[in-house]
Amino acid sequence: MNLIKQRKIGFIGTGNMGQAIIKALIDSKTVPPNHIYATNRSEGKLRRVQEQFGLNALQTNEELVDVCDIVVLAVKPQDLAQVLEPIASSFHEGHLVISLAAGFSLHSLQKLLPNAGGLARAMPNTPATIQKAVVGYCLASGSEAYQGSIEDFLSPLGLVVPAEEGGCFEALTVSCGSGTGFVLELMQYWQEWIEEHGFDPETARGMVVQTFLGAAQLAEHSNTTSLADLQDRVVSKKGVTAAGLQSMRELEIERALRYSFEKASIRDQELERGTSKQ
Ligand SMILES: NC(=O)c1ccc[n+]([C@@H]2O[C@H](COP(=O)([O-])OP(=O)(O)OC[C@H]3O[C@@H](n4cnc5c(N)ncnc54)[C@H](OP(=O)(O)O)[C@@H]3O)[C@@H](O)[C@H]2O)c1
Repeated sequence: MNLIKQRKIGFIGTGNMGQAIIKALIDSKTVPPNHIYATNRSEGKLRRVQEQFGLNALQTNEELVDVCDIVVLAVKPQDLAQVLEPIASSFHEGHLVISLAAGFSLHSLQKLLPNAGGLARAMPNTPATIQKAVVGYCLASGSEAYQGSIEDFLSPLGLVVPAEEGGCFEALTVSCGSGTGFVLELMQYWQEWIEEHGFDPETARGMVVQTFLGAAQLAEHSNTTSLADLQDRVVSKKGVTAAGLQSMRELEIERALRYSFEKASIRDQELERGTSKQ
């Protein structure tokens, strides 16, 4: 049974990701708006979110922790310690805390919130706004009993992937979190090239979006066929696609992508080391 419906869920921070998750929870009817509570540093944003979603806006983070069973930390990583220090003593055994902060380790969270019953990190990507995210999560040791609650909570966002903290969580952060940005970078190159060949920007954008969507959905619908086999169906020997692919391989696009992934991983490790020192 999905128990999330009966829980009171609090969001500290109603920025981009906080709002994306609130929207997905409400649109999917996972949680009724009157079970959602929120605070935000700037009051204007909080009021707009309250009007848009019909949730409960609270004045202080202390109040939110007192009222809610599940507390989602949706502030920027650099603000997190400052947000938690004054309210840490309000957490107790009954709280499940889910941090979205990139590069903020479970170890650092455990040090800041030793009294919380369950601690988890979640890493959604921006397609969460349309319930098409890849969302990874990892649980602190001792929080294993919350696995079902976490999956119920995250599943309206899209594909939920458990990942061990460390190399796996980092790979998910880079390939899917940052990965959305990498794919959008490629889409821009595609659009520019199409425009240079005589199409107006709107048509070019539509062509790019449909090409990426079509390839992705084809892969989704043919999930017993490997990606390489699906690719082979586009390629005929000495044909147009084969010529293009040969250049992609000669120019070592794979190496460029791998290098970018590694750079992003190094930055993720730097952020994690920074927060672990706190
Ligand atoms: N965006 C993404 O794609 C993405 C993906 C995965 C994870 N994340 C993580 O999600 C978290 C939020 O990112 P975001 O992109 O949503 O950032 P954001 O748009 O800047 O939202 C952060 C919100 O936190 C509010 N805030 C700051 N201090 C606060 C306090 N003391 N009490 C209550 N609210 C406070 C800010 O209020 P103001 O209105 O005053 O700024 C802001 O609305 C980050 O930790 C990030 O690493 C983001």
